[in-house]
Amino acid sequence: MKIGIDKLHFASSHLYVDMAELATARNEAPDKYLIGIGQSKMAVIPPSQDAVTLAANAAAPMLTAADIKAIDLLIVATESGVDNSKAAAIYVAKLLGLDRRLRTIEMKEACYAATAGVKLAQDHVHVHPEKKALVIGTDIARYGLHTPGEPTQGGGAMAMLISADPQVLALADDSVLLSQDVMDFWRPLYHTTALVDGKYSSNIYIDYFQDVFKTYLEEQQTTIEAFKALTFHLPYTKMGLKALRSVLPMATTTQQQALSTHFEHARQLNREVGNLYTGSLYLSLLSLLLTDPELMTDDLIGLFSYGSGAEGEFYTGRLQANYQQGLDLGLPQRLARRRRVSVTEYEMLFNGQLALNADDQTIACDDDPHRFVLTGQRHEQRQYQDREN
Ligand code: CAA
Repeated sequence: MKIGIDKLHFASSHLYVDMAELATARNEAPDKYLIGIGQSKMAVIPPSQDAVTLAANAAAPMLTAADIKAIDLLIVATESGVDNSKAAAIYVAKLLGLDRRLRTIEMKEACYAATAGVKLAQDHVHVHPEKKALVIGTDIARYGLHTPGEPTQGGGAMAMLISADPQVLALADDSVLLSQDVMDFWRPLYHTTALVDGKYSSNIYIDYFQDVFKTYLEEQQTTIEAFKALTFHLPYTKMGLKALRSVLPMATTTQQQALSTHFEHARQLNREVGNLYTGSLYLSLLSLLLTDPELMTDDLIGLFSYGSGAEGEFYTGRLQANYQQGLDLGLPQRLARRRRVSVTEYEMLFNGQLALNADDQTIACDDDPHRFVLTGQRHEQRQYQDREN
C-alpha cells in the first residue's frame, strides 16, 4: 500500500520587505543578502497572524468535506507556540471545523518537528488506511532587528494531508536519523527571539546532512545517481546550495548540472518568503513541484530535514502520476500579489506583536486579507476570528 503526501498548501503573509532595501538600511552590500544569503524577499508577518492563524489559513483551502470526515490525527509542528500547556493544534482544529473524535497534538524540535509529524502520520495511516492525518508546520522566524540573523527571518505554514494512495508523493520507509545535544540555536522561555551561533549552526547543518545522506546510500546500497532531485530545509537558500555542493562530487558532471538545476527550482519560492522553520523543507518541495518542468512520474526525490539542537533526517519519496492535482497551484500568483512594505513599516510590524502580559489587548486587522486572524487578547485568552463564520 502506498502512503504519503496527498495534498500540500501554503500560507504566509500578504506583506514582504525587499532584501536589497533591507541590506542598504543595514549598511550591507545588497549582493550579500541576494547572493551570499540567497534571499530576494522576506515575508513580514503582521501582529494579526500567529502560528495558529497561519496554520489554519494554510490548511483550510485544501480540505474537502470528505477529508475533514477522514482526518483523525492533527499534528501542528511549531517552535513559535502560543501557550506552554495547550496545544496550538486544539485552536487549529476548532478553526478548521475538524471532527471532535480527533487526536490533536503540538510537536517541537526546532525546524525538524514537521518531519517527525509526517513520519508519525505515515505510520498512523499504515495502521488505519481509511483515515487521513493533517500535519502542519507553522512558524515565524525571529532573530531580532539589526542582528546577523535578521536577513534569515520570514514565516509561514505548510499544511500536508497524509493518506493512502496519495496524489503527490509516496513515502518510503527508509529514514536515516541523527539526534544529538548541540547548542547551535535555541530560545529560552524568556526570549521572543532565537539565540544562535550562526556560523556554527551552518557547519552543524552540513555535518548532519553529510552523515545521514552517506549513511542512506550505504544502507540502501545505492548512489546519488538514483535521485532526480534533492530537497533541503532552507533557513536561507544558500544553506541548501552549500549542502548540495558538499555531495555533488559524488555525481557525474551531467548529473551535477541536473541536480543543480532542480535545486534552483526547489529554492525559487523560499527565496521569496525567507525562513519558516518547520515548514521550510516542505515549501522547498512544493517549489520544486510547482516550478520544475522536468519532473516525471516515479522520480525519486530526497528530503533532508534539519532542526537545530540538533536533529536531522534524510528520507525519500516517489512522485505520483497526478501530483499536480494535490498542489497549491495558486501560490506563485499569491506571492506575486503581496504588498511591499518599507524597512520602517517592517520594523513597526516586527515590534507590534501581542505584548507578553496579562492585559486585554486589541490588534488592528482591517488590512489583513486572510480568513483567520488574531484580533487580540481578553481575560488572558487569545481571540481568533474566522471571517467566513
Ligand atoms: N556579494 C556576494 N556575497 C557576499 C557579499 C557580497 N557583497 N558579502 C558577503 N557575501 C557572502 C559571504 O561570503 C557569505 O557566503 P558563504 O557563507 O558562502 O561564505 C555570505 O554572504 C554570508 O556572509 P557572512 O557569513 O559574513 O554573514 P553573517 O556573518 O552576517 O551571517 C548567517 C550569516 C550566519 C547565516 C546569519 O544570517 C545567521 O546567523 N542566520 C541564522 C542562523 C541560520 O540560519 N543557520 C542555518 C543553520 S541552522 C538551521 O538550519 C535551523 C534554522 O532554521 C535556524
